[in-house]
Amino acid sequence: MISLPHQGHINPFICLALKLASKGITVTFVHLESVHHKLLSKLGPQADPFSQARQSGLDILYTTISDGLPLEFDRDLHFEEHWGVIMHDFPALVDEFVGEMMRSEPDFDYFLMTDTFYPWPPAVARKYNLVNVSFWTQTALTFALPYHWHLLEQNGHFPCKGVDEMEEAIDYIPGVEPINAKDLMSYLKESGLVSIVTEAMSAALDAVKSADLILHNTMLELEPETLSALNQHQPNYAVGPLNFSKSLHSYTVSNSLRSEADCTDWLHSKPPNSVLYISFGSFVHTTKKVIEELAHGLLLSGVDFVWVIRPGMLSSDDTDVLPEGFGYMIEGKGLIVPWCNQMSVLSNPAVGGFLSHCGWNSTLESMWCGVPMICYPIAYDQTANRKLVIEKWKFGVNLCDGESLDRVEIAEKIKGFMNGAYSESLRQEASKLKVAMEKALEIDGSSDRTFHQFMEDLKAKMDAKSTKF
Ligand code: UDX
Repeated sequence: MISLPHQGHINPFICLALKLASKGITVTFVHLESVHHKLLSKLGPQADPFSQARQSGLDILYTTISDGLPLEFDRDLHFEEHWGVIMHDFPALVDEFVGEMMRSEPDFDYFLMTDTFYPWPPAVARKYNLVNVSFWTQTALTFALPYHWHLLEQNGHFPCKGVDEMEEAIDYIPGVEPINAKDLMSYLKESGLVSIVTEAMSAALDAVKSADLILHNTMLELEPETLSALNQHQPNYAVGPLNFSKSLHSYTVSNSLRSEADCTDWLHSKPPNSVLYISFGSFVHTTKKVIEELAHGLLLSGVDFVWVIRPGMLSSDDTDVLPEGFGYMIEGKGLIVPWCNQMSVLSNPAVGGFLSHCGWNSTLESMWCGVPMICYPIAYDQTANRKLVIEKWKFGVNLCDGESLDRVEIAEKIKGFMNGAYSESLRQEASKLKVAMEKALEIDGSSDRTFHQFMEDLKAKMDAKSTKF
């Protein structure tokens, strides 16, 4: 199994590894060396995310692979360059790695499980005669849109023609309710295959068409029409949200790449549903101006908050993220942390709302904890996720309606969101979703049944290939 080297992909991948191992499959989980390096500084020299799960009886081997760049290369700072290497140099290293693994353990029957974002799996699977399983860690909506890239091209929505087109409805993607061009993923709103992300996504969504099986970290009840339409093309399995499978709760794994601050004592002193939790995930950058407006907006709102300010979250090198004196101004009212255990914060009774960038893991975690969202998407799939949260699942609101953030508007939105009957109605919607998730994951629920079906189909595909090396 090879995940993308980002927290939002690693988390569901680790859960999937546990799930597969709990069904008796031997998993070789491969982290990129750069990811392992981050774990080393958190867990010490024996860093192995699965050591405890292995002691509990799961057969998960853990190893690493180079992405082709030296460890000291700053991958966050040089994102485009890093992706260039992942696209062009990494495939040969994976090929070598897989060949070596199969030669050293020739008695196993192998299959390949990779992140759908990678464009190289078909070539590796073909060369070694492997069943090729692709894992899409996001929503079925954000899979279906680029899966039908050719339709976007035919209808003149890709390349994107510019801001005037943003209100146009895209109403021809099978299984997808009309969606405005402005809600598309950022890499589809470009003037062509100009960025490495758009180029990579185009190649990856082309490559996935030859995958044998495709897993999704969503559930049938959340996106039935989209999943059903996708199944007309290839076998797609909605087995999520894997993150919350009860059967995996007994296994402890270290998935977080950063050290977590403990917010429990601080939250303990706050009344139920009174605290706003704010985080923009593990990956996207924002500007100092946005942080400044948010900081003042929070102060004006008078709402208590926990805010994750990740080191390096600004798009500039500026390390002075918050307005001067902000720490003093919020004493007793706000807690700023560099990283936390998000699930532990969201499930604390004091937390009544989540101001989120709408990353898919964060959205699922918010649903699971029954916490309504106030949405501030920044890039990638996040605008499309916001649409689902607000319009389809109705457990969230938008932070700002215009292009730019304004502190007074933010304060009004936050006050309205955290107080009164409105927030209660959002909370009820979030709680209904939590119940639906629990049902999907329990024995014979939709995700559980789908996982069984996946296992049967996987076995049949492997038998048909007789995958001995
Ligand atoms: C990004 C995308 O936006 C997301 O939709 C996509 O699926 C993966 O790439 P990211 O920005 O990291 O991911 O957001 P998200 O998907 O929400 O994942 C962040 C993860 O980090 C969550 O599981 C969250 O619990 C965790 N987290 C975040 C922490 O553990 N502590 C924190 O302080 C903040």
